Parts: sequence; C-alpha cells; structure tokens
Amino acid sequence: MKTLAEINEYWVEHCTCDLKATATQAVLGDGNIHTKIVFIGEAPGKKEDLGGIPFIGAAGKFLNEMLESIKMKREDIYITNVVKYRPPNNRDPLPEEKEACRAWLEAELQSIKPTLIVFLGRHAMSNFFPEEKISDVHGKLLKKNIEGIPTEYFLPLYHPAAALYNGNLRQKLLDDFKKIPPLL
Ligand code: URA
Repeated sequence: MKTLAEINEYWVEHCTCDLKATATQAVLGDGNIHTKIVFIGEAPGKKEDLGGIPFIGAAGKFLNEMLESIKMKREDIYITNVVKYRPPNNRDPLPEEKEACRAWLEAELQSIKPTLIVFLGRHAMSNFFPEEKISDVHGKLLKKNIEGIPTEYFLPLYHPAAALYNGNLRQKLLDDFKKIPPLL
C-alpha cells in the first residue's frame, strides 16, 4: 500500500486531466489522514489554484464555520475535490475531466479509509450517485457498495458556495451539518 504522499506524487505526474494545461498547480487533498470522515468538493477555485490547498476561499470559510457549529475543526477531517485542477473561469468540470481524476480520488480514499464520505454539492455526488437529485437526498445517509470505494456510507450536502448567498439553502446546509456527529 502506497502512502498518500506517494499516491499524490504518482498522480501529479500521471493524471491525464486536460485542466492541467490551464491550472497553476494540482490542488491536493488536505487535512487529517487518520480521520473517519472525508469531504469531497467539486474542483478548486481561483484561491485554491493559487494557494494549492482546497477550500481556502469564501466557500471554505463558510465550511469552517459550519464545522465549528458541530464542534469540529478542519484538522478533524480530510478534504479533497473530484477534480484536482481548476477549470477555467470556474466552469463546471466536464465528465472527461472528472473521469481523468477518478483513479486519483479512489486511491486517496483507499489510503484514508473513511467510514463516512460527505459530498459537497451535486457534482461530487453525481460522480457516485448519478441517478440522485441533491434537492431530494441532501442530508440523507445513502448506503451503496461502490467498487473501489472503501465505505458504503455517503452523506450528500449542498455545496457551501451555492448556499453562501441563498438564505434558504444556507439554513438547510446548517441543519444537514448537525446530522454529521450522530452519524459518526
Ligand atoms: N469549491 C470546491 O468545490 N472546491 C474547492 O476546493 C473550493 C471551492
């Protein structure tokens, strides 16, 4: 079994994602590698692309506040993205870009072995549950055996960026966050 550092070193070199051409750098997963809970976002934004760390912009600040609201810190979780390179102008990642980064994400998950995977937003969720709608399943624990994924438990949440300027979604996201501690 390779270490996470070895996995990242391998994939920084071998990932065939076309976004490499326009991104500043790969934004690697970050946080506690001994955690039971992994959060998966969509793709790095501008701040993340420049800083090389996931969720350090406005969405990340809101995420940190929500973690605090359930007495957790960033150091308690591991956080990564479906796509490791910033899409130009923050457009949605294309299916082939998600596919190119998929083996990297699976290797990360197999290294950390979380018991719960939290999807931040519909793009992270649709990678694993293409048939579900985030408006139907947000805050609900999903159970599924997926080849290559070391847990059967998934919690889809709205993306913090979508909820930042939408009071209704914001409250739903805060309420859904409260479900995390009892699940763990
Ligand atoms: N949004 C994401 O989905 N990921 C990041 O790293 C930052 C913002």
